[in-house]
Amino acid sequence: MTILVTGGAGFIGSNFIFYMLEKHPDYRIVCLDKLTYAGNLSTLAPVMDKPNFRFVKADICDREAVNRLFQEERPDMVVNFAAESHVDRSIDDPGVFLQTNIIGTATLMDACRKFGVQRFHQVSTDEVYGDLPLDRPDLFFTEQTPIHTSSPYSSSKAAADLLVLAYYRTYGLPVTVSRCSNNYGPYHFPEKLIPLMIANALNDKPLPVYGEGLNVRDWLYVEDHCKAIDLVLHRGRVGQVYNIGGHNEMRNIDIVKMICKVLGKPESLIVYVTDRKGHDLRYAIDPTKIHDELGWLPETKFSDGIQKTIQWYLEHRDWWETIISGEYQNYYEKMYGNR
Ligand code: NAD
Ligand code: TYD
Repeated sequence: MTILVTGGAGFIGSNFIFYMLEKHPDYRIVCLDKLTYAGNLSTLAPVMDKPNFRFVKADICDREAVNRLFQEERPDMVVNFAAESHVDRSIDDPGVFLQTNIIGTATLMDACRKFGVQRFHQVSTDEVYGDLPLDRPDLFFTEQTPIHTSSPYSSSKAAADLLVLAYYRTYGLPVTVSRCSNNYGPYHFPEKLIPLMIANALNDKPLPVYGEGLNVRDWLYVEDHCKAIDLVLHRGRVGQVYNIGGHNEMRNIDIVKMICKVLGKPESLIVYVTDRKGHDLRYAIDPTKIHDELGWLPETKFSDGIQKTIQWYLEHRDWWETIISGEYQNYYEKMYGNR
């Protein structure tokens, strides 16, 4: 079995590669990644020398490069993690989101049609459903919830989802789609809430909370997401969408305060900054379908997962210090300088 993993030098893709190489030592894993600002080859160093792993630097929008790789590797399955993934960047500059997230997905699926695959799996997000009100804790996203996006990021992911389902209906491409809630864990790029707050707190820098910090996200430990995708790949029904999330809703401000507490840092580091435009209020997944059909349930409790994550950032300072000492500084100044 050869699995092509796109975006495998990023946060979730790298965790997925580690998980799959461990779980299925007889599989060959080929990673295709453009190494954008979010991709980090050093992340994959522990597996680079494995005989059943190959890394290829390429853009999923580059039809020639994608076809060449398919010709060489003839993957049985493709798991598409490659994407521009940060909402704030999409608000600042949507273009590259449309290119990678939509055109890139179509380019990969065209290669799948041309060469034939057992499965094309699209890693999507609960953000395609838009948001839920804060005062209706009884409401959750199911697979039937209408697509109703808020940001250029979520709109580009929703467009890709629709294309994936269209390739199933029109061409019979054997697809599956998973829509997961917010992940956290090792190798999370420090522009996202949890790693940004950990890195800033460790450096005694201000902790910028958008608005009043009351927005709610449904957090899932990254390994639980990887396990769910593995299950969908092997046992999920073709043409189906599976929501992934574990009833772990938390307000942003409570997460930030928890990080301060674990690290022994004062809450006086918290600063309330101008809210994100179009800021989604609450995400919350109903995982009944994946639980009933595939027996998936999250295994890592948030209190354990956040401890493990903070410990990882303490032990891997080199990894994130290198990132935040480079181009990231310009990004940070642009996003937070006048907020
Ligand atoms: P990430 O930003 O950490 O990594 C994205 C990776 O894709 C990087 O390695 C980058 O170099 C690569 N990439 C970007 N553009 C590319 C291109 N044109 N060609 C080839 N490679 C390219 O993202 P992540 O957080 O790991 O998210 C992975 C996927 O999971 C995305 O599709 C995202 O929409 C989805 N998702 C993420 C979350 C989350 O909480 N992070 C939740 C649900 C779904
Ligand atoms: P983020 O990690 O960007 O994920 P997403 O927007 O895709 O859910 O943000 C998570 C939440 O944290 C979101 O409500 C925005 C908020 N946030 C802050 O308050 N401050 C920050 O510096 C960042 C990056 C996010």
